[in-house]
Amino acid sequence: MRLHLQVWRQDGPRDAGRMERIEATDISADMSFLEMLDKVNEDLIVEGREPIAFDHDCREGICGTCSMMIDGVAHGPESGTTTCQLHMRSFRDGDTIQIEPWRSRAFPVIRDLVVDRTAFERIIRAGGYVSVNTGNAQDANNLPIPKPDADAAMDAAACIGCGACVASCPNGSAMLFVAAKIGHLGHLPQGQPERYRRARAMVAQMDAEGFGACSNHYECEAVCPKEIPVSFIGRMNRDFMRAALCGEE
Ligand code: SF4
Ligand code: FES
Repeated sequence: MRLHLQVWRQDGPRDAGRMERIEATDISADMSFLEMLDKVNEDLIVEGREPIAFDHDCREGICGTCSMMIDGVAHGPESGTTTCQLHMRSFRDGDTIQIEPWRSRAFPVIRDLVVDRTAFERIIRAGGYVSVNTGNAQDANNLPIPKPDADAAMDAAACIGCGACVASCPNGSAMLFVAAKIGHLGHLPQGQPERYRRARAMVAQMDAEGFGACSNHYECEAVCPKEIPVSFIGRMNRDFMRAALCGEE
């Protein structure tokens, strides 16, 4: 395949940035999207040009780093799929593909397609954990958890912190990400002691980082590669209201 790429190039956080046309040649339909970019970068290096900076790590849909807008859609055209798991068979020979970084005030661009997502880490640090007394290992299965709760916690825990929800929301809201983290811990007995304190602290940090509020566009759910449902946002709001209005700890 031969593809015409329109790629966002930005030399650094203070650079204005611009779209650049780059040809991708000898692309196999079996390549992943990131392998296509690897091939393009090898060709750019041979030509003496700067390779495209992009984030990646696991390439298995686990780490959440491979974040980019492809033809205006976070992670590209296949639903429930990260960029690293997207394959070039989803495109046709001769296609023009637009590739841009996440665009959100809370995710400033560092270079080309790489953005700074440390705001998510600061939200996790504010409350996305459980405190435990360490000691001898507990007997296995001595803390029974109802199957529906275990399933719901597991669904929420699938969030990989990629930020597609933020990048796709017209308000740059991080509520699906925060709700997934709060829902994951809040469905488990270990998450109960700090449940309401956690909701208050994580929501406060989310606001402090400059993320917007949810106004029910549901774009976050539509693009989430782990298909986290927006129902977790409702659950987070209930926890937050109880913490804020009733002083629940
Ligand atoms: S909720 Fe989905 S889109 Fe948002 S950070 Fe988690 S995995 Fe990514
Ligand atoms: S590189 Fe880890 S999820 Fe894509």
